[in-house]
Amino acid sequence: MIRSKIISTGSFLPSKVLSNAELSTMVDTSDEWITERTGIKERRIADVNKTTSDLAYEASKKALKNAGLKASDISLIIVATISGDMPFPATACLVQKKLNAKNAAAFDVNAACSGFIYALSIADSFIRSGVHKKILVIGTEILSRFTDWKDRSTCVLFGDGAGAVLLEGHKGKSGILSTHLYSDGNLWDLIQIPAGGSLKPASLDTVNNRLHTISMKGNETFKFAVKTLGSLVDKTLEHNKLSPSQLTLLIPHQANHRIIQAVASRIGLSMDKVMMNIQKCGNTSAASIPIALDDANRAGKIKKGDYILLEAFGGGLTWASALIRW
Ligand code: UT7
Repeated sequence: MIRSKIISTGSFLPSKVLSNAELSTMVDTSDEWITERTGIKERRIADVNKTTSDLAYEASKKALKNAGLKASDISLIIVATISGDMPFPATACLVQKKLNAKNAAAFDVNAACSGFIYALSIADSFIRSGVHKKILVIGTEILSRFTDWKDRSTCVLFGDGAGAVLLEGHKGKSGILSTHLYSDGNLWDLIQIPAGGSLKPASLDTVNNRLHTISMKGNETFKFAVKTLGSLVDKTLEHNKLSPSQLTLLIPHQANHRIIQAVASRIGLSMDKVMMNIQKCGNTSAASIPIALDDANRAGKIKKGDYILLEAFGGGLTWASALIRW
């Protein structure tokens, strides 16, 4: 049986740091409120001359180098993002150009913060069916360009960054064991960028009313996440006949430390088995899980044979999980 295996990881964070203290000079907030309610201490902000595909390119170069592969070895690039360089072409095509990955097909996936797991699931299907041998899966965001810096309920949350993994088919026990994807479009208006699409094309009005930035019903999203992620994790473990104690690491979407702790506590997992880098990255949407995975990998927290559970939720609403045997 062919499974898809993550053979390498890579990530990239812009060097500019925006601290809670600096944010407190921009809107009516405080380091204390942000730290206590979200767990975030700082986030990274991309340089004005950089684009979302530039961040993806940097993360991908590292993943390729770590795998000892050339860009021309890849036959597919999937980019998960909600903050692409432009509405079209796909950011994945711009990454392909920058990498000179001349043998790759390329497309984007939009499932907001669940996007990386959605992209991983698509890549996994292509590899198990034998259609593709080596796939580059990327989560990349420059959310700072879509942030309303006057809205304290959202501007303290988001950050920029990119993470990438290389998947390869192999015969053996390790690899992606299962992926689980869900959505509920009835809840589309909980997190959105209201304008810039066919519903509300860009106009003077949309710009003046700041409709090109993220708007969120934070508290409703929070409650939905806590309720849904707990049962998602249960279902994912049950599907693989695993108990929580067999997990080496839970790598959750880094949206809020209280959501992460609630999920860990529901399955009785101690926090030392939960990957958290929200304090330095904030919420980087589709990039959050691949950045956390790369951080965990480089810190030596994952070893061959370990069971790792990825889980995320986000705009759509969407939610998703993946169980990996490393
Ligand atoms: O990636 C997936 C997408 N999004 C999420 O995961 C976000 C999920 N939601 C959350 O993480 C939380 O709901 C937030 C962190 C966004 C907000 O925390 P909360 O505990 O749900 O606060 P709240 O929205 O109920 O607001 C509580 C109070 C309000 O004041 P009043 O009405 O009680 O006087 C807000 O105005 O906190 C106030 N507030 C702030 N105060 C200081 C909201 N934002 C801030 C802020 N600084 N930045």
